Amino acid sequence: MIERNLKDEGESVVILDFGSQYTQLIARRIRAEKVFSVIMPPSSKLDEIKNEKPIGIILSGGPSSVTAEGSPELAADIFSLGVPVLGICYGMQLISKMKGAEVERADHREYGHTVVEVQTGNELFVDTPHSQRVWMSHGDRVITPPDGFRVIAGSESSPLAAIADEKNRIYGLQFHPEVFHTVYGTDIIKNFLLRICGAEPTWGSQSFVEREVEKIRERVKSSRVLCAVSGGVDSSVMACLVDRAIGSQLVPVFVDNGLLRLNEVDEVKKILSEHLSAELVFVDASEQFLKGLEGVTDSEEKRKIIGSCFIDVFREQSEKFGPFEFLAQGTLYPDVIESRSTVGPSAMIKSHHNVGGLPENLGFELIEPLDLLFKDEVREVGAFLGLSDHTIDRHPFPGPGLAVRLPGEVKREDLELLRQVDRIFIDALRRDGFYGEVWQAFAVLLPVKSVGVMGDERTYQRTAVLRAVTSTDGMTADWAKLPYEFLQTVSNEIINKVDGVNRVAYDISSKPPSTIEWE
Ligand code: XMP
Repeated sequence: MIERNLKDEGESVVILDFGSQYTQLIARRIRAEKVFSVIMPPSSKLDEIKNEKPIGIILSGGPSSVTAEGSPELAADIFSLGVPVLGICYGMQLISKMKGAEVERADHREYGHTVVEVQTGNELFVDTPHSQRVWMSHGDRVITPPDGFRVIAGSESSPLAAIADEKNRIYGLQFHPEVFHTVYGTDIIKNFLLRICGAEPTWGSQSFVEREVEKIRERVKSSRVLCAVSGGVDSSVMACLVDRAIGSQLVPVFVDNGLLRLNEVDEVKKILSEHLSAELVFVDASEQFLKGLEGVTDSEEKRKIIGSCFIDVFREQSEKFGPFEFLAQGTLYPDVIESRSTVGPSAMIKSHHNVGGLPENLGFELIEPLDLLFKDEVREVGAFLGLSDHTIDRHPFPGPGLAVRLPGEVKREDLELLRQVDRIFIDALRRDGFYGEVWQAFAVLLPVKSVGVMGDERTYQRTAVLRAVTSTDGMTADWAKLPYEFLQTVSNEIINKVDGVNRVAYDISSKPPSTIEWE
């Protein structure tokens, strides 16, 4: 996927990833300047890098020390390309080492804010103040600049905060311009892109959509394309995009697994029918799923049953409406990066249990038009394609749906209770303006009962747990600090309106060590 040829698609800035936790952030910052960027492993060959038509190359930071044996190096002689190069942290140390400078391992890691003094007369710091706050996070340091380089920024603790070989347009930054704490980081990145690489800021939703539509048409020709849609952001945007390219050659399939939220089936059917010219195939398979789940209490088993049920239903539909040559999927860039091997912490494959997805061996050729985009970019493309805010700001919803929010057996009456609780919580979040501030929010219905008192009567009913988290990618998350008053109002509303729930708890666990979902 990632190796695809961008030759006819214009210029890009190539980021070689040494495993920094900030690598994706670099890509985002570049795209925010309307310049296309692609992340590749340092093991990339020169031809592979050339294929991306780079107008500049960035070497990311990373957890290794260039002084350590076996530390990652570059497979390609990137300097032979003659395009500007910017090394950040590990990237700068590597450039220095490659150019023959001495790099030393510091006895302690420098971490946090530093104020650096910037030399005038260099392109990287144009329009930024002489003295500026930057974010450092490094163990190694370069002692003297390599031949041909001069220091363009420094501080007492980091005398070589930035170096440059202006003749060959090679730059190194000891600090991280991509992180928010580097006050003029955005300007520095912008200067590198526009002034040093000569990038044209033309990348955006419109150029993306035009280019993808053309590519899909060329690839698909008169063949037919199958896709699964759930009403979630990724699959909705993907379907709209493919629909724009090939219209009725697309067959979008929406499966009701009986585990969706209140009124979700009708809402999703309505939205997708409004936005797609292709006819939506709706399959009510709820009986099949719920029957399969009867008596099952183990969470992994529940996931397996749901996963295989989905594949069965989808296969049936593909035979009924087929044959299809292609399957379109809403895979995003982080999924692509995470499934590739690289070095350092970003090599940790996400542990997401992709239940509700499809296996790779269904026998179709894949079309993944969003595989170079981040979530916020997908949302922008969605807005450009005319999807409503309500659709594009939706929280993620897991493939196994409400089944993972009902610990233990999935009973139909419990699904109904959970749907009511969830709806009250989500409506309140939207009403009070908190919905967009949290990454994900939902309710869980516990299989335990507790004592309560309603009027003069003793009650013995279920406990609902509310969960709201903040996150940027779902891999780590913090519990959302929703105001007490808000939680109080929601709790009252749930207990008053939902017959069967007499207690509401708020989940204050972070991920890790907890997960976002309860199962
Ligand atoms: P956890 O619970 O692992 O969830 O912290 C992280 C994110 O992934 C979603 N999730 C899933 N999404 N199929 C999906 O499509 C799944 O099986 C699945 N399990 C969890 C979860 O909602 C959260 O956004």
